[in-house]
Amino acid sequence: MFIILVFQRLPLDAFTMELTFLLCILVIVQAGVIKEKESCEGVIINEIYHDVEVLKSELDRPYLLAIDRSTNTLYFSFSESKEDDVFKSARLDLNTKQYSTIDDVSNGFAQTVDEKTHEVYIGGNDGLYKYDPASNKAEFIGERGTDIWTIFYKDVLYYSVFPSQFLYTFSNGESSRFPDLQDTKVDHFIIDNENIMFFTNATGLYSQEKGTNTATLYQDLPENGARGMTLDVNGNVHVCYQDGIFRVDKEESKLDKLVELDDAFGVAFDKDNNIIYADATSVVRLKPNKNKTC
Ligand SMILES: *[C@@H]1O[C@H](CO)[C@@H](O)[C@H](O)[C@H]1NC(C)=O
Repeated sequence: MFIILVFQRLPLDAFTMELTFLLCILVIVQAGVIKEKESCEGVIINEIYHDVEVLKSELDRPYLLAIDRSTNTLYFSFSESKEDDVFKSARLDLNTKQYSTIDDVSNGFAQTVDEKTHEVYIGGNDGLYKYDPASNKAEFIGERGTDIWTIFYKDVLYYSVFPSQFLYTFSNGESSRFPDLQDTKVDHFIIDNENIMFFTNATGLYSQEKGTNTATLYQDLPENGARGMTLDVNGNVHVCYQDGIFRVDKEESKLDKLVELDDAFGVAFDKDNNIIYADATSVVRLKPNKNKTC
């Protein structure tokens, strides 16, 4: 702009006019490029552009995401009422975006899928349920009267209860306190492919080899705690905090931030290993797109 002003003060012969014109075009083109950069609509993860696809909106805090990768169906719960803690489980077909609530479970809150058999389990404020996607019916399986806090399936059903946050296992209709973690509270809990348990409680994020009693502190928890934990298709552990999604680096015992988010509520990976996350109102998929850059 400055250069154009200088030119305008000189007597205008044909040459300067042409030059001024050219400079104007240059400035406009440059402005266009900058504008495009500012309005980048995707997300860059590990230097790869990802499209942001909103799968379902107008939800209140979608939480505790779990995916059946055999059908690419996402399970989660959401808050039904802001005033009193009333929750409901729901399912979302990640191929067709078909959505329905799961009404058989009272206060459906936590969901998990057995990766081997693809059976779906749901915990609510009145015990544990097994869910049948074909009929959209849930069958009560145990722990009547117990408020289920978190739930995870690997060989056996693990669950923690509210308000004690103690961790139990459930099999053949019997519950028992999980001995490896009998001295601690458990908020989020998973076991990876190498039988390393990862869990959070009010103190921090820990790892602990299954069958042992020694926990390793990964990280003190940020102010708003952990909001989700999941495994990707390859068994890598990921954690969701309010400010984004982090990948656990077991070799270095640290977390790497993958995606920066505002008010994230949960994370899971679909059958193609795309990140599915929840924020305060929506469920979103991040899909790599090699043809685009920001
Ligand atoms: C969280 O777990 C660690 C490791 O087991 C334990 O030392 C700590 O006391 C626990 N915190 C709470 C609040 O239970």
